Amino acid sequence: MGTLNNRKVAVIGCGFVGAASAFAIMESGLFSEMVLIDMNHDKAEGEALDISHGLPFSKPMQIYAGDYKDISDAAVIVVTAGAGQKPGETRLDLVKKNVSIFKSIIPQISEVNKDAIMLIVANPVDILTYTAWKLSGYPENRVFGSGTTLDTARLKYLLGQHLDVDSRSVHAFIVGEHGDSEIAVWSSANVSGIPINRFCEMRGHFHHEEAMQRIAEDVKNSAYEIINKKGATYYGIAMSVRRILEAIIRDEKTILPISSIQHDNHGVSGIAFSMPAIVGKNGVEATVPISLSQEEEKALKESASTLQKVIDDVF
Ligand code: 2OP
Repeated sequence: MGTLNNRKVAVIGCGFVGAASAFAIMESGLFSEMVLIDMNHDKAEGEALDISHGLPFSKPMQIYAGDYKDISDAAVIVVTAGAGQKPGETRLDLVKKNVSIFKSIIPQISEVNKDAIMLIVANPVDILTYTAWKLSGYPENRVFGSGTTLDTARLKYLLGQHLDVDSRSVHAFIVGEHGDSEIAVWSSANVSGIPINRFCEMRGHFHHEEAMQRIAEDVKNSAYEIINKKGATYYGIAMSVRRILEAIIRDEKTILPISSIQHDNHGVSGIAFSMPAIVGKNGVEATVPISLSQEEEKALKESASTLQKVIDDVF
């Protein structure tokens, strides 16, 4: 295996999420080469052409439909392939279908490239991150999932709306499963260092319990709402993918709630789920031991045991 091209990215799977991610990646200007792979080669070719036609308005790069031999020197491989949720389905309902798809895809990746960073995006992302780690032989720091990066963005967005403040000034995390058992970490949530409840009061909001419950529920149900209305979610996740890749390629050491294999994090080990982690050129450089209230810790353990049961079932 040769050396990696740090300016090369591959996107596996060109469905809604893969195509939107590829578009966001093109716009980012982070890469000079992008390979798109799909079971349906025409679909990958169509997306490559369509996205390439935006290049005169962005920055030059090569975008083409390829196959696995083309990704041997890609620095980052984004895996979006798999079935998406249909109305009424949970992310965990996808597990059997998508684990079996991963059993075919992941070995094809690691056969040609053992040195990249693999970013798992397909759902259920925590289970598939674990699956990809097991099947690829990649070290833990180089295979991780988008996790609750999107849910955290949704939380920041909704809090920004609620408080009429830039969502980038909101500091709060969703942790645990990217799915129904996820946890909003209110105990450390703040707006530029001001504890969230105090900031709420500054903005004329006093019913904290009620607002926190409503906002956390809205975050958790965002995907269901969008899928009911338009059939799939893809722009939010595409921006999350772009942000994670930026942290990797620019070696930013940004703290993002990505899904990675845990080691005694609040007593959880051996499964993948999201906790804030430092992300840079080596992938996950360290998980950040975020402090949790007793109630949050209990919910985190329940989230972990939900995922552990699925893993026990599948493996
Ligand atoms: C989302 O949260 C469905 O996981 C996808 O938008």
